Amino acid sequence: MEVREARAEDIPLVAAWTKDTFDWGDYVADRIPVWLDEPESHTLVCVEGDDVIGIANTVMLSPGEAWLEGARVHPDHRRRGIGSLMNRAGLDWAASQGARVARLATEEENTGARRQVESMGYRHTSTWAYAELAPMQRSPLAATGLQPAPSADIDAAWMSWISGDLSRTGREMIALGWRWRTATPDDLRTAVSEQRFWQSPSGWVILAQTERTVATSGWLATTPDAAPDLLEDIITTARETGLEEVSLRVPWTPWMVEALARVGADSEPIRVYSIRP
Ligand SMILES: CC(C)(COP(=O)(O)OP(=O)(O)OC[C@H]1O[C@@H](n2cnc3c(N)ncnc32)[C@H](O)[C@@H]1OP(=O)(O)O)[C@@H](O)C(=O)NCCC(=O)NCCS
Repeated sequence: MEVREARAEDIPLVAAWTKDTFDWGDYVADRIPVWLDEPESHTLVCVEGDDVIGIANTVMLSPGEAWLEGARVHPDHRRRGIGSLMNRAGLDWAASQGARVARLATEEENTGARRQVESMGYRHTSTWAYAELAPMQRSPLAATGLQPAPSADIDAAWMSWISGDLSRTGREMIALGWRWRTATPDDLRTAVSEQRFWQSPSGWVILAQTERTVATSGWLATTPDAAPDLLEDIITTARETGLEEVSLRVPWTPWMVEALARVGADSEPIRVYSIRP
């Protein structure tokens, strides 16, 4: 078997055995064209004869931070070391790009993936809650809603976040979709300029519309006391804008999970692992 760079003609071969990877299906075949087009990404496949039996992507998210994602091994070829071989090759590439840390995420209940990355020396460094708010299914409350945050708020928002529980628990990271890297004040500046930075009396949130009726957030600043109100503010504004779903990735603190439960959202635990490549 051999590990090599992925090509467009590998996509249907991978799609053939990645339809039912999880209960909900799989997204990986749809992502390969995006990875192949992305200059920061390095997509690898494992081949044996004419068969493509493994795939994984590594992407540089900042000059020193790599992210590994989309690891899949053909169900008939698991426990042969292929997942670890591709992961190692991704780490070697990341090191060659200057990465000082490489990270990846697994669902907490994915024990196979957890054992595999733990066997390679990855350390579990933070747990995040993935939750979906359904604004249209909530009766409107008397919440103030969100306002666009001005750039004058950036310092206060950053100081509030960096000195609080959420940044500590989340290792000062921001979630960009299903990718995590260290947050910087520039993330707030960019969010202001792209009209994705919002505030209410209860905190601040970066909230981006990803589809017509869906928005997502991977960074918010609030306190244990104010978190329930901030979530109500998000829901209120989401309702007013006609959003059917707001997906949140927030560091797993008991008070945040409780606040999410109070607005009817289940939290799914996601583990972020780190290693020095
Ligand atoms: C997770 C996955 C990529 C692992 O690939 P793999 O090629 O089977 O893993 P490896 O052979 O390199 O495993 C190395 C070690 O990890 C551990 N491990 C791997 N899979 C395991 C499992 N299902 N249960 C327990 N331990 C496991 C074992 O210690 C294994 O060594 P061993 O076989 O000598 O006992 C593969 O199972 C897969 O494609 N799963 C479905 C998709 C998925 O969950 N991807 C990860 C999303 S985060």
